[in-house]
Amino acid sequence: MAMEKTTLFVLLLNVLVFSASLVSSEQSHVSAVGDPGMQRDGLRVAFEAWNFCNEVGQEAPHMGSPRAADCFDLSGSLTHKVTEADNRLGVGDSFPGLKPENINNTDLYAIEKELYLGSLCEVADTPRPWQFWMVMLKNGNYDTRSGLCPQDGKKVPPFSPGRFPCFGQGCMNQPILCHQWTQLKDGTMQGGFSGTYDLDSGCGGEHDGVSYYEVVWEKKVNVGSWVFKHKLRTSKKYPWLMLYLRADATKGFSGGYHYDTRGMLKTLPKSPNFKVRLSLDIKKGGGAKSQFYLLDIGSCWKNNGAPCDGDVLTDVTRYSEMIINPETPAWCSPKGLVNCPPFHITPDNKKIYRNDTANFPYSAYHYYCAPGNAQHLEQPVSTCDPYSNPHAQEIVQLLPHPTWGEYGYPTKKGDGWVGDARTWELDVGGLSSRLYFYQDPGTPPAKRIWTSIDSGTEIFVSDKDEEAEWTLSDFDVILTQSGTNLMNKAERKK
Ligand SMILES: *[C@@H]1O[C@H](CO)[C@@H](O)[C@H](O)[C@H]1NC(C)=O
Ligand SMILES: *[C@@H]1O[C@H](CO)[C@@H](O)[C@H](O)[C@H]1NC(C)=O
Repeated sequence: MAMEKTTLFVLLLNVLVFSASLVSSEQSHVSAVGDPGMQRDGLRVAFEAWNFCNEVGQEAPHMGSPRAADCFDLSGSLTHKVTEADNRLGVGDSFPGLKPENINNTDLYAIEKELYLGSLCEVADTPRPWQFWMVMLKNGNYDTRSGLCPQDGKKVPPFSPGRFPCFGQGCMNQPILCHQWTQLKDGTMQGGFSGTYDLDSGCGGEHDGVSYYEVVWEKKVNVGSWVFKHKLRTSKKYPWLMLYLRADATKGFSGGYHYDTRGMLKTLPKSPNFKVRLSLDIKKGGGAKSQFYLLDIGSCWKNNGAPCDGDVLTDVTRYSEMIINPETPAWCSPKGLVNCPPFHITPDNKKIYRNDTANFPYSAYHYYCAPGNAQHLEQPVSTCDPYSNPHAQEIVQLLPHPTWGEYGYPTKKGDGWVGDARTWELDVGGLSSRLYFYQDPGTPPAKRIWTSIDSGTEIFVSDKDEEAEWTLSDFDVILTQSGTNLMNKAERKK
């Protein structure tokens, strides 16, 4: 009897183990982010502000270096890991780990401050620790007389204004940052970052004619996802503003950056083996010029397919964005081939050239621009703005279209827009593996490993004051089967 019982038990155990392994290989749900679905009560969130060329330039008076964080653990009450003094650190102030030679350099100081805040917020995890979600705010003004931004990575002298918005000296300033430290009240945690670029304004909230940004995070203890509530308002002086919530690499370069960063992607997702899940509820669109990115993915590789190494002359930032504002037109068209990628690849891997007017999905593309340092471009081509990143960049901007339906992306204008809140599960890996990106002829294809994945809007030179308002929650980056296997292999090697 006893013998039989044991046998039965072993049998049962075998069945259990067998079915458990079936589950894990069939719907392997391995997350690439440290906080899958934004469910962790102990939040990790940071703030960074960039000028037009993704640097600091000059700090705003009394604001310190434009990097800050709000990170805490919850056990009965909140224990904050970052202090007000940490967040106020600015050039000239020392902190643990700072290289003394960078203490007076506003750009290099901000990089190191981010690493320092990362060290305070870091959470141990496998396969490696992670630090925070990143709120990124960028001012699109460019004072061409400042000579501040390199051209495709090369230093260039000042030039005459005209092409870029700028109200005059100081237009590239950093914002005022107001911080509401996260607090726990009646079972709900809430905190936020907000402020304005108008330095004669303060922390008093929104005013007509004054630029404004706000990100408020809120969560019920033990329940669901953090909800990140965003607002972004442009003004005459600041008509081009960007506000994103990013999951960045936890080390190395993240998209648009040529220094070591900190972030949330404890595993870097690689095309085609990942998906992104997020809930997005857009309350106000931000006007006709609001290029709202349901999703923006960023990476960096060289034109010969090699990974970036920090050499700004040959590194190239690569972006692809799905714009869901129904007012955003397709600049790519049979008569505007200059704005289209050279070809499109269908989900069943058919290549369609842009001169194939019967088949090319022109309205699936808002705009394509090639890296300014590419040597073998197919004509006609437009090259990307050479000043707005530390090195050359390439951008593939998509619009809702039936061709993207296979990947769970929006298929028609208005999908996911105001009044159509949704939870998306996007096969970003599948789609991004089939996008055109430039490479020198005969070079081995770049590994498409994404170092930044974000959502938010870029109000691209509004002609009147505009406001966008949206909430983001449930964000996750899910490694699909092969991605999991790859990771397991990497784990086994250790
Ligand atoms: C930084 O600036 C301070 C004050 O002007 C100066 O004393 C110090 O030598 C500078 N440090 C470096 C490394 O340049
Ligand atoms: C279309 O473009 C492809 C690639 O550039 C080229 O090989 C082909 O000759 C073009 N076809 C026509 C009809 O122009």
